[in-house]
Amino acid sequence: MSERLEALFRAARSAMRRAYAPYSGFRVGAAVIDETGALHVGCNVENAAYPVGTCAEAGALAAMVGAGGTRVVEAAVVGGAEGDGILCTPCGACRQRLREFAADDVPIHVCGPEGPRRTVTLGEILPLSFGPDNLAGGGPR
Ligand code: THU
Repeated sequence: MSERLEALFRAARSAMRRAYAPYSGFRVGAAVIDETGALHVGCNVENAAYPVGTCAEAGALAAMVGAGGTRVVEAAVVGGAEGDGILCTPCGACRQRLREFAADDVPIHVCGPEGPRRTVTLGEILPLSFGPDNLAGGGPR
């Protein structure tokens, strides 16, 4: 594993361990690297009013924007149990959240607690997506 991927994975795994998931018991951590090389992390934060809970990816993106980052160049998501082999791929809503800040070729490392399991690109998991450039008049104002 490259040093960069190792740092990304470890950051996401640390965030996963801090997740607040008392209702599902399913902890998720996410980490993104922005255009300056800075790392930002998030974890899922559930709520007694279930639909109000937020995903790990949403937290990581909020942290990036709050720190001044504008583009995601690489991302990792960690979920599940050691060695279970099940892919914790970003949910549909989080694919769209990522789309706002990431290009189709951005790698997303889908990981378990033991390490990366599979790498996909955003374009692979969200084909023919709708993004800022689909809006009449172009991107963000
Ligand atoms: N979850 C995430 O944080 N990210 C995803 O992409 C998939 C699902 C969280 C939401 C909820 O707190 C728990 O995992 C079970 O769905």
